[in-house]
Amino acid sequence: MKGQMHVPFNAPTFLGGEMDGIRQAIANGHISGNGFFTLECEKYLEALVGVKRAFLTTSCTHALEMCGLLLDLRPGNEFIVPSFTFVSTVNALALRGATPVFVDVRPDTLNLDEEAVARKVNARTKAIVAVHYGGVGCEMTRLGEIARQHGTAIIEDNAHGLTGKYRGQPLGTFGRFATLSFHETKNVSCGEGGALLLNDEADIERAEILREKGTNRSKFFRGQVDKYTWVDVGSSYVMSEILAAYLGVQLNAHERIQARRRAIWNLYRERLQPWADKQGIQLPYVPPECDQPYHLFYLILPTLEDRQALIAHLREAQINAVFHYQALHASPMGQRFGGLPGDCPVTERLGDCLVRLPFYFALDEAAQNRVIDRVLEFKVR
Ligand SMILES: Cc1ncc(COP(=O)(O)O)c(C=O)c1O
Repeated sequence: MKGQMHVPFNAPTFLGGEMDGIRQAIANGHISGNGFFTLECEKYLEALVGVKRAFLTTSCTHALEMCGLLLDLRPGNEFIVPSFTFVSTVNALALRGATPVFVDVRPDTLNLDEEAVARKVNARTKAIVAVHYGGVGCEMTRLGEIARQHGTAIIEDNAHGLTGKYRGQPLGTFGRFATLSFHETKNVSCGEGGALLLNDEADIERAEILREKGTNRSKFFRGQVDKYTWVDVGSSYVMSEILAAYLGVQLNAHERIQARRRAIWNLYRERLQPWADKQGIQLPYVPPECDQPYHLFYLILPTLEDRQALIAHLREAQINAVFHYQALHASPMGQRFGGLPGDCPVTERLGDCLVRLPFYFALDEAAQNRVIDRVLEFKVR
């Protein structure tokens, strides 16, 4: 259809004040990391989530890599991950030579199936990675029990879920480690960025060193040591002040961003639920014990053909809807780790049948209603 406005899947949130923040960072004469804005964002996150320490990083991927380093993962170690996740959840730890053990997800929340975790955990398991899909919390009570019984660390990959809660407790406070993403697709963003959240005091000093190329540079700048030297392995995971300034403006406005996203999510749910029920299409499920951050709105169609037909139907109207994770255990790399197609049937079905609708801060009601009207025209085969 000609003349219709394109509705993208995502548009990065831009509030306006970000430019002032960036100008200020430049005026401060400090655009590398660990300056005024970085510290402000870290303090803000520590208070908002309620963790012992937050470190801004260059990405969520890098924050996950730091978890692998802090755990001293090595060949022979295993870690349990959902097959339904982003590659970084696995790669970041596999980089240390540890072996991923893929488990399936629950068909309701699309989160780690905690009973499948209980079956796979063993003496080699060094970490269980709980990915809170769409910021809806995993079954943290049960996962916590399993981890305690086996002396295994929990890493919360909370790339989607800043401000999400499980039984009233913020996501990011359950594991020894948690990670956040500020990639442009996330609710609060700075283009590319992330954070490592620490709940164990004992990890703080080493994390700071790992993030600073294995040096005690941060201690030196605080005047705590008189020499700046190489003390450990490490890498370059510090976020630039320019990005931290941008991020700080969005963090301060997170309630305004959330309020708009809640309205978008609720309108999708309200207008699509009756249509979805009639056609056997599954919409997001948020258990009563979870507070979600309204990060995603997805539909699970009965078949791959239906999903592809819906994407094409929306594309004809200049609307961009996209699928999500493809089963990692069945990918070429996953199979090198022993994964076999058929191992995780729920994940495989989601790879084929799930589609996400346009969802971003600046999505106005007229454009959203146009998306919904077009979806409502669609019939499964
Ligand atoms: C569950 C999950 N973990 C990690 C990441 C990686 O985030 P980043 O792009 O900040 O490295 C993503 C990316 O969207 C993700 O969906």
